[in-house]
Amino acid sequence: MEREKDLIERRVVLPLAEPERAARHGVRPPRAICLFGPPGTGKTTFARAVASRLGWPFVEILPSRLADGGNLAAALRTAFARIAELDRVLVFIDEVEEIAPVRTEPAGPGGLHGVTNELLKLIPGFRERDERLLVCATNSVRSLDPAFLRPGRFDYLIPIGTPDKAARAAIWSRYTDGRPEVDVDELVLASELFTPADIEHAARVAAQASFERDLLAAGGRGADDPAPGASTADYLAAIAEARPTVTPELVERFAADITSHART
Ligand SMILES: Nc1ncnc2c1ncn2[C@@H]1O[C@H](COP(=O)(O)OP(=O)(O)OP(=O)(O)O)[C@@H](O)[C@H]1O
Ligand SMILES: [Mg+2]
Repeated sequence: MEREKDLIERRVVLPLAEPERAARHGVRPPRAICLFGPPGTGKTTFARAVASRLGWPFVEILPSRLADGGNLAAALRTAFARIAELDRVLVFIDEVEEIAPVRTEPAGPGGLHGVTNELLKLIPGFRERDERLLVCATNSVRSLDPAFLRPGRFDYLIPIGTPDKAARAAIWSRYTDGRPEVDVDELVLASELFTPADIEHAARVAAQASFERDLLAAGGRGADDPAPGASTADYLAAIAEARPTVTPELVERFAADITSHART
């Protein structure tokens, strides 16, 4: 996923990693970004990768846990106050549309206006200090409150799509352990629009088929003559059976979201 990686590296990681050099050019490091894209494309993985590139602790805020029956807005305020005590931190909020949905009049079920407003108020304070980054992720950027996403709050809105050929090749090679008898190119062609999560699942199905075949073959072959792992045919069968997450309608929706929301 070179395009996404390159964008995140240049816009996000490098200015945060080299703040003085960035400042000499008038570049202000980002303080908040939002990653959007279909389920399983790697948004959480990218957020974790940014923290690890920077060597910063990764703190995930889980609104479902914070709420705990009580007052979510107050719980968010407490969480951000505790986060403010950290020297450096990447704060991650997944499925952020659940706490900052488009504010409808009157408040929809659950009445989240107060929570959205609280988050809007917390972001400026968070942005004031150096060495921190808020990363929000969502499958549904169009459900987010536009005021929440505006420039000044979020520096970049970065689309994370399905992996291209090179990325699929890298992911397949990982799951096939680089075994030379597996035709990775063929798997790559057959798995267009698969997310990393879909590929992971198809690889597991193929491995399981190969394992079961080995067990059935005369009680399993011995350690001195081990059966080979899953074959190209096993992987292709698993791909054919898979129900990819990203349908043509989702592709269209994502393309429209990129046009209307991406800010890179
Ligand atoms: N670039 C990648 N290379 C290899 N595996 C990946 C990559 N990105 C993600 N994965 C794998 O794909 C799966 C889904 O990734 P992740 O949880 O980051 O997706 P997500 O976009 O956060 O999904 P959701 O929208 O459901 O929260 C994970 O098992 C992860 O390890
Ligand atoms: Mg995720």
